[in-house]
Amino acid sequence: MKKINVLLGMLLLSVSAVSLADPVIMKFSHVVAPDTPKGKAAEKFKQMVEERSKGAMKVEVYPNSQLYKDREELEALQLGAVQLLAPSMAKFGPLGAREFELFDLPFMFPNKETLYRAMDGAIGKRLFTKLETKGITGLAYWDNGFKQMSANKPMHKVADFNGLKMRIQSSKVLDAQMKALGAMPQVMAFSEVYTALQQGVVDGTENPMSNMYTQKMHEVQKHLTLSDHGYLGYAVITNKKFWDGLTEEQRKLIAQAMKEATVYERSIAQQENDDSLAKVRAAKTTEIYTLSDAERAEWMKALVPVHKEFESVIGKENIQEVYDIAAQVAKETAAAAKKKPAKK
Ligand code: LMR
Repeated sequence: MKKINVLLGMLLLSVSAVSLADPVIMKFSHVVAPDTPKGKAAEKFKQMVEERSKGAMKVEVYPNSQLYKDREELEALQLGAVQLLAPSMAKFGPLGAREFELFDLPFMFPNKETLYRAMDGAIGKRLFTKLETKGITGLAYWDNGFKQMSANKPMHKVADFNGLKMRIQSSKVLDAQMKALGAMPQVMAFSEVYTALQQGVVDGTENPMSNMYTQKMHEVQKHLTLSDHGYLGYAVITNKKFWDGLTEEQRKLIAQAMKEATVYERSIAQQENDDSLAKVRAAKTTEIYTLSDAERAEWMKALVPVHKEFESVIGKENIQEVYDIAAQVAKETAAAAKKKPAKK
């Protein structure tokens, strides 16, 4: 009897030890506002992980560079101080993963379909493999659409950029892009852009509309050119040691939640940009200009040579692969249009 009681006691102790075990905590740090596609998807991911793990896993989301700025957050992830980040792909260069700058090449992606095929296909996989050697595991690619240009003077022709100080992310491709336009690029953390624009430290910047609006950049920028000249997307990443230390079951749960958060994130990105543009229009702080076909052709003439300039850094084969995907998408789109019965 005594033996049974002891056994029962041990069993109870071990059950309570399991249920009282500390939850796995994942700190998810990012630099944008909570009401952006990235901010909303981070919250959605948190909800799913916490609900499905019944509290055994917790995700703490820190938006708006609350914990770390751009560069610091990558260092923090490598050191294990945070477990999840979603930096833009323009920020992987300083880590020694310059191939990510493929996504910064101006006028590289003619549409979202080409982008998704590149991210979700062989190119995206190769880039994630490259990160493993840096102690980082890639989980997903998130979208934030195409970038627009803003400044305190109109930007219609390439010559309008002459001498403009333009804030960029830490990407050599973006540096070359601004120089090709005749501007002076300046690398700066995202959290510092609003003040730098306000104080005239820089004259202008580039970003998709949801970032511009949620950071109130339009309040300190008189002109906006809708150019869609480049792309902004994110790689959602975790610390490899942390990831490898989880159980198979935990990894599965996280991967599934990430998959669903990614579908959600991509489904809202365009709408968030459209809504933000409408809000900037309504604010009447900024003159909004859309490039004409001739002006776009002039920008392209100045900017597309940047692709060739970066072949050796990004990989000629990576660039060619995107051209091939774009050609295939164009072919399929034309075939689908042909199939559709003409409207009477
Ligand atoms: C920027 O730094 O301009 C943005 O890419 C920030 C972000 O994560 O969207």
